[in-house]
Amino acid sequence: MVFKLRPRWLQLALVALIGIILVLGLGRFPSIAQEAAAAKWKIGTEPAFPPFEMKDAATGDLDGFDIDLIKAIGEAAGREIEFVSLPFEGLIPALQSKTIDAAISGMTITAERSQTVDFSRPYFKAGLAIAVREDNSDIKSFENLMGKQIAVQIGTTGAQQAGSVKDAVVSTFDSAPLALQELVNGRVDAVVNDLPVTLFAINEANLKGVKVVGELVTEEYYGIALPKNSEALAAINAALETLIQTGVYAQIYRKWFVSDPPILPTIAPSLISPTRSGLNWGRLFQNLLKGAWITILLTATSFFFGLIGGSLVAFALISPVRPLRWLCRAYVDFFRGTPMLVQLFMIYFGIPAMLQGLGFEVSFNRFFAAVLALSLNVAAYLAEILRGGIQSIDRGQWEAGESLAMNPIETMQYVVFPQSFRRVLPPLGNEFITLIKDTSLAAVIGFEELFRQGQLVMATTYRSFEVFLAIAIVYLVMTSIASICFKRLEAYMDPISRAKKLTQAKASALPTTLPS
Ligand code: ARG
Repeated sequence: MVFKLRPRWLQLALVALIGIILVLGLGRFPSIAQEAAAAKWKIGTEPAFPPFEMKDAATGDLDGFDIDLIKAIGEAAGREIEFVSLPFEGLIPALQSKTIDAAISGMTITAERSQTVDFSRPYFKAGLAIAVREDNSDIKSFENLMGKQIAVQIGTTGAQQAGSVKDAVVSTFDSAPLALQELVNGRVDAVVNDLPVTLFAINEANLKGVKVVGELVTEEYYGIALPKNSEALAAINAALETLIQTGVYAQIYRKWFVSDPPILPTIAPSLISPTRSGLNWGRLFQNLLKGAWITILLTATSFFFGLIGGSLVAFALISPVRPLRWLCRAYVDFFRGTPMLVQLFMIYFGIPAMLQGLGFEVSFNRFFAAVLALSLNVAAYLAEILRGGIQSIDRGQWEAGESLAMNPIETMQYVVFPQSFRRVLPPLGNEFITLIKDTSLAAVIGFEELFRQGQLVMATTYRSFEVFLAIAIVYLVMTSIASICFKRLEAYMDPISRAKKLTQAKASALPTTLPS
């Protein structure tokens, strides 16, 4: 049979839509748009690394040493600069896929990275330093970090250094300020981060109760990263050279660091004796297993508490007590109406910071915070599902309970709730599967669940496709198993199919021939 699109206007609308998509699509197509784009450089940056790159609080524009420098480079090279904000560990994959032309992000020139990307000549001299809380007196040097809790930004040289400390527990965060906040909140003993950034946070951004200890752990040089064999490399190096010669570089340096710039080498010392580390499948597999286990643990615990909480809230939502109803409605609306990510940040970073501001020494355990946020969120959804289920049960069932001399609580317990629970199993299954995937949000508070494990592997191997494909498959396996389990449960709880099975079982248990 031929499919026929009836109303004329619908046909016209469809043709117009296809036309618009084609025009828009072609507009982005390289051959047409290339002429215009050639004059532009797309520069990737992770803008939470003051004073190198940050968002101006007032204007929302990018600002910082790196930003000024790359703008000046663009000017000297006659190119327009377009900034693209990306997570730090996403910069190198973006260069690999040529989504961006270059990245400037306080990125240290390392031998490992230069296997995957090209670097400009060094443009800044920095190094890693250790930050601790002001009242800490037992960490004075890198050696003292042994067995300690350390927070770092994911994918950075700081993370790598911290990872090499014996017996240390390292938690990784998406940005350096978050790692520092972890230190302020008292959940870790130290942060390993680039010295100028930590100093800026203490001196300019008003980070309280934190000091830098000991000497520099490493000496590092920042470079602008480009895709391998990029044509832009020569132009960027030439522009950088000009800026250094003409004193523009020194001017920018003084603006941000109120001192004269040091003499920079033309090649980073780290590139003189390169080493290589590739993707280790054994390690990837091990990390995925570890992550999957944490994901399962988080999901199971949060769903368990969410189900209990959700049931209680569901009862409250239909209770005759009006203030209770209002309270629960407000709770459901809040947790359904705000992003889970915001809730996680609020519970993990916000509440302890606020309480400490009031003089209480509190900090939540990571697992507790994650389970709390996830269960509160999932309970809000489950409450609505369960309420709907309960209200869908026919009034006659209540009357039946009454006629059997049950009180309302007994009727709910033995008659209404079991029936409604069976009805809501499919949406419950949906929630469970959503929760499995949502646990990946716990990565933002430094939780090394499945997704974070993938990020960690990617941050050192830069094999984004293989790593995330593997991660996606593990999630798919977990959600498929969950979906099968819920189907089974549904079949098990179906009184009709169960009754049938029971009679079948009985029939087959009957002897076919009579014993003689
Ligand atoms: N210099 C360190 C590195 O290359 C940290 C850089 C972090 N940069 C940022 N924009 N967050 O690993």
